[in-house]
Amino acid sequence: TPAPRVLSGIQPTADSFHLGNYLGALRQWVALQDSHEAFYCVVDLHAITVRYEPEALRRRSKVSAAQLIAMGVDPERSALFLQSHVPEHAELAWVLGCLTGFGEAGRMTQFKDKSSKQGADATTVGLFTYPVLQAADILLYTPTPGPGERVFHVPVGEDQRQHLELTRTLAQRFNHRFGDTFVAPEAYIPQGAAKITDLQEPTAKMSKSASSPQGIIDVLEEPGPMRKKIMRAVTDTGTEVRFDEDNKAGVSNLMRIFAALEGGSVDDVERRYEGSGYGQFKKDLAEAVLDTFGPIRERTHELLGDEAELDRILARGAARASAVAAGTMEIVRERVGF
Ligand code: ADP
Ligand code: NA
Repeated sequence: TPAPRVLSGIQPTADSFHLGNYLGALRQWVALQDSHEAFYCVVDLHAITVRYEPEALRRRSKVSAAQLIAMGVDPERSALFLQSHVPEHAELAWVLGCLTGFGEAGRMTQFKDKSSKQGADATTVGLFTYPVLQAADILLYTPTPGPGERVFHVPVGEDQRQHLELTRTLAQRFNHRFGDTFVAPEAYIPQGAAKITDLQEPTAKMSKSASSPQGIIDVLEEPGPMRKKIMRAVTDTGTEVRFDEDNKAGVSNLMRIFAALEGGSVDDVERRYEGSGYGQFKKDLAEAVLDTFGPIRERTHELLGDEAELDRILARGAARASAVAAGTMEIVRERVGF
């Protein structure tokens, strides 16, 4: 039997991914390749739902792809591509948008959050239909022509649950109206995915949109500044390296990072640093982060040094994705009456 499929996407909205992206999502992308036929997509269409600069977008799409390869996404095994290179994403989104209720889309909490921050006039229709495009991203790669041939997984964080639910609803609605076409995707909560918080505000999520430069660790950051940030991470007035999310959020976050990088548990970290203070712990943590990100940073720069080769890799990924997406759209077009 063929391997189950998995699809995941990430927005190219920064010049580097951060530690939260890596430990919460991207590291799992790499691992999933061993058990799945993977489709990994840099979702540049999603990135234009808010204000952006075209040159920055182009650069960030390439840097994102290079980082994914440097982290271990293998373009020989997996389809790695830019969303805009496969026009079926936008085409299916239109069809699905015509099956989505206005009120239904309006209940998406991520839209409500983002649009309330921006105000109605700065909020685009694209941001409103963002989850519909996400549904298209996923459903293009569900088994065709017949359902049920393969299990289909989409790695999701908590914040994406509602969008995945909408995707499932749209798959079922389409099938009901036009005949069995899509398999409703299942969420796959990857083993060992860790939620990482801000180094300066340890109760808030580490996030490219919310964190200050001192609160976020970029994958591509140079060793000097990276060490400094970790040494200056907010802890508490105590001295014990002890896991206690309520009273020691800062230390607990650093312990979670350490455990995730070393492949152990926070209990292991606690035992290892019994009796030693925060200083030694932070120094070792900085080295662990550098051991992981140093090679990724170097490989990313190498890949970016040969842009023609990177373009060829992405073109091959798009061709591979297109082969599936075009087949899906052929069925969809026929079923909806085009
Ligand atoms: P950001 O919050 O920086 O804008 P995104 O929302 O683009 O990041 O998230 C991209 C991926 O990284 C998602 O799968 C998300 O769940 C994951 N992710 C983002 N921040 C964190 C974090 N602090 N801890 C764990 N996972 C995270
Ligand atoms: Na975000």
